[in-house]
Amino acid sequence: MRILVTGGAGYIGSHTVKLLLARGHDVTVFDNLSMGHKQAVPADRLVVGDLRDADQVDHLLMVNRIEAVIHFAASAFVGESVTNPAKYYQNNLLNSLNLLDRVRRQGVTRFVFSSTCATYGVPETVPITETTPQAPINPYGNTKLAFEKMLADYAPAYNIGFTALRYFNASGAAADGTIGEDHDPETHLIPIVLQAALGRRPHVEIFGTDYPTPDGTCVRDYIHVEDLAAAHLLALEHIRPGAGAFYNVGIGTGYSVREVIRTAEEVTGKRISVKEGTRRAGDPPALVAGADKIRQELGWQPAFTTLRPIVESAWNWHKAHPNGYGK
Ligand code: UFG
Repeated sequence: MRILVTGGAGYIGSHTVKLLLARGHDVTVFDNLSMGHKQAVPADRLVVGDLRDADQVDHLLMVNRIEAVIHFAASAFVGESVTNPAKYYQNNLLNSLNLLDRVRRQGVTRFVFSSTCATYGVPETVPITETTPQAPINPYGNTKLAFEKMLADYAPAYNIGFTALRYFNASGAAADGTIGEDHDPETHLIPIVLQAALGRRPHVEIFGTDYPTPDGTCVRDYIHVEDLAAAHLLALEHIRPGAGAFYNVGIGTGYSVREVIRTAEEVTGKRISVKEGTRRAGDPPALVAGADKIRQELGWQPAFTTLRPIVESAWNWHKAHPNGYGK
């Protein structure tokens, strides 16, 4: 299939591009490199550009005769979305609308969208299923949910088939060690903990120890980035024109912040010093996926079903690339 991957030089995007290329797909990566890394994708696949430029998008879809779009490009820091919502509405909603409109005009009928468990807000019960009410508690979640609705409206009207994947906490790195996670600034727990293990940070601050969870720290569902990439491939293969589907993608098991730190100590053999801090704004206590639907309907089977091997794969990358992709 000829596939356009927006944000394909980013963390989840690059792991998906790697898998698509390995399966013989013809991939064009479109990325403005604001968060992505050019080293994360083959140079001959990368087109540097911005989704604000709808004409460039249109041209790419046309000349490359694109049959499917996987849309990763977005801003994805919950905290930043609270202080700078304009950036999130521009990047995640308006730029996505630009893309979708050009997709419609060029008659592309397959669209896979990166959605998030942040669209559920603070769920009343966990595990979260696809029918759990969506009530985001931050602008990031609002923009992702708004685009889900846009897709649902566009699909039957313009014969676009789509799948929205609601990711839980993407983590880990490619098994062959070639690509991994490198954000600037880094806000995600596992890379922060591993940076502390490498001595690149003095300690890890735990954001809140008084949550209503077994050990008082937040619980998350950590899903390996290659399993997430595989979900995109399956989604593409199952899309039907004019119809949409929504799937949670997680392993279905939650781990607390303390458990992540303990696991990282075991994996790295290093003592990680911890500072107990206050809650971070916008953090729900527990987010764990009920992910039966994607297993049943798409036949998705995660290779990583526990935290430890996920942290091991992340550690392999961080040990070998203490500066990430470098400047
Ligand atoms: N945490 C710490 N200390 C840190 C960093 C994180 O205690 O230094 C805690 C957080 O408070 C949270 C957990 O570790 O409880 C995981 O935090 P991450 O920042 O790694 O991940 P989030 O769960 O906040 O965010 C992820 C994605 C977002 C998505 C969100 C949905 O990165 O894009 O899940 O809630 F929106």
